[in-house]
Amino acid sequence: MNKQDCVLAIDQGTTSTRSIVFDRDAQELAAAREEFAQHYPKAGWVEHCPEDIWKDVVNTARTALEKSGAADRVAGIGITNQRETIVVWERATGKPIHRAIVWQDRRTANVCQKLRDEGAETLVRERTGLLIDPYFSATKLAWLLDNVPQARERAEKGELAFGTIDSFILWRLTGGKVHATDVTNASRTMLFDIHRQQWDEDLLRLFRVPAALLPEVKDSSCIYGETVPELFGRPIPIAGIAGDQQAAVVGQACFTPGMAKATYGTGCFLLLNTGDKPVTSRNRMLTTIAYRINGKTTYALEGSIFVAGAAIKWLRDGLHLITHASQTDDMATRVPDSHGVYMVPGFVGLGAPHWDPDARGLICGLTLDSSAAHIARAALESVAYQTLDLVTAMMQDGGGTTDSIRVDGGMSANDWYCQFLADMLQAKVERPRNVETTALGAGFLAGIATGVWDSEQTVASEWARGSLFEPKMENEQRRTMIAGWHQAVKRTLSTYT
Ligand code: G3P
Repeated sequence: MNKQDCVLAIDQGTTSTRSIVFDRDAQELAAAREEFAQHYPKAGWVEHCPEDIWKDVVNTARTALEKSGAADRVAGIGITNQRETIVVWERATGKPIHRAIVWQDRRTANVCQKLRDEGAETLVRERTGLLIDPYFSATKLAWLLDNVPQARERAEKGELAFGTIDSFILWRLTGGKVHATDVTNASRTMLFDIHRQQWDEDLLRLFRVPAALLPEVKDSSCIYGETVPELFGRPIPIAGIAGDQQAAVVGQACFTPGMAKATYGTGCFLLLNTGDKPVTSRNRMLTTIAYRINGKTTYALEGSIFVAGAAIKWLRDGLHLITHASQTDDMATRVPDSHGVYMVPGFVGLGAPHWDPDARGLICGLTLDSSAAHIARAALESVAYQTLDLVTAMMQDGGGTTDSIRVDGGMSANDWYCQFLADMLQAKVERPRNVETTALGAGFLAGIATGVWDSEQTVASEWARGSLFEPKMENEQRRTMIAGWHQAVKRTLSTYT
């Protein structure tokens, strides 16, 4: 057998599943990707079919291994996944009892409101670092137990298993031998005490979740188990797991307190490394676990924006203003500014720091000479303004001062956007050479556990900058633009009169 100096990363995201083989120099040897169906049974409900996800995991992993020509050099598999999304399956058969309920699903908004009214927020905040919101797993799980016939009774008898997507994939890869998750995924369920790092009995009671359902919680980098030999021709250790935003922290090598990364996908998730101390936000940021390696926990502050790339998708599919997302780069540079036009993309309410599920989007400042280019530019600008609001809140929370931020994901490919972001943040924006940071992070975690890389320091030395954007806008102009943005945001909030 060849030297085991490669890793396979499985990146199971909200709209697609990707598998990538990386070598020891963090070079991508081969990749495969599949998109899968989104189900919207009712307004505000979002579901995925777990069997679709499983099929795509197996197919993309097999294809990537085969194309890489390095299948026998793979030392371990790293899994990274859309977070908070839940699956419940039968322990006896491995069959899900319902479709996965996705992180974007708002069906438990009323339950969350009721819990807040009853004063449960303090307990949840102290133990989990989260706010009570349907975004997180706990109320979705309770909904499923209450709405699938016999589910609650069977859960109490220990017949069912619960997991976030990583856990479900791990169960299937190991042929039902391992029911586990990692601390980063556990920290998004609203059931996990991020300080004691255990499932929390008070929270299980509050959300009415039987303990018998829960997976074991482990380090993000460790040997979880082995794949059944029939899947990939030989057993391969599963050696790393992290939620996708946390995996991007690792892939971006943000290992030092004060380092931050922003990943631009459908939404944008900004995570700031706060070291071994969980920082409690006064500005409605989340406290979360960034990773746990060799039993040592690193925490992060997180700001979540629900609409980033989705605003550009709306320009294309909703307004038909563009035919391809990349056109926005060109349109934004065609005009000297947005001509006073602002867009606040509160299509699904606003996330951090407002957490207003009833806020709605707006475009304002329109005049007869406003053009499509101004609107496209306002859409791009809105994502940078939202990122600025998160960074400002984190700085106020004492998360440290950051003079640079690392970006990845779809919109990070847009040079105009990166420059505008640098101008708004008054900080350097660094884009890595390899923008597949989420998958790479999962690969790194698996590689650290299997000896492909020996530590975070070695991993950090693999990180290479592709482009650097430095702030150059006049401060006066910047201040005026930001003031206009905050006026526009105010008008979208549900409390605006
Ligand atoms: O918290 C949700 C996040 O993990 C989803 O990420 O990239 O799958 O949209 P993504």
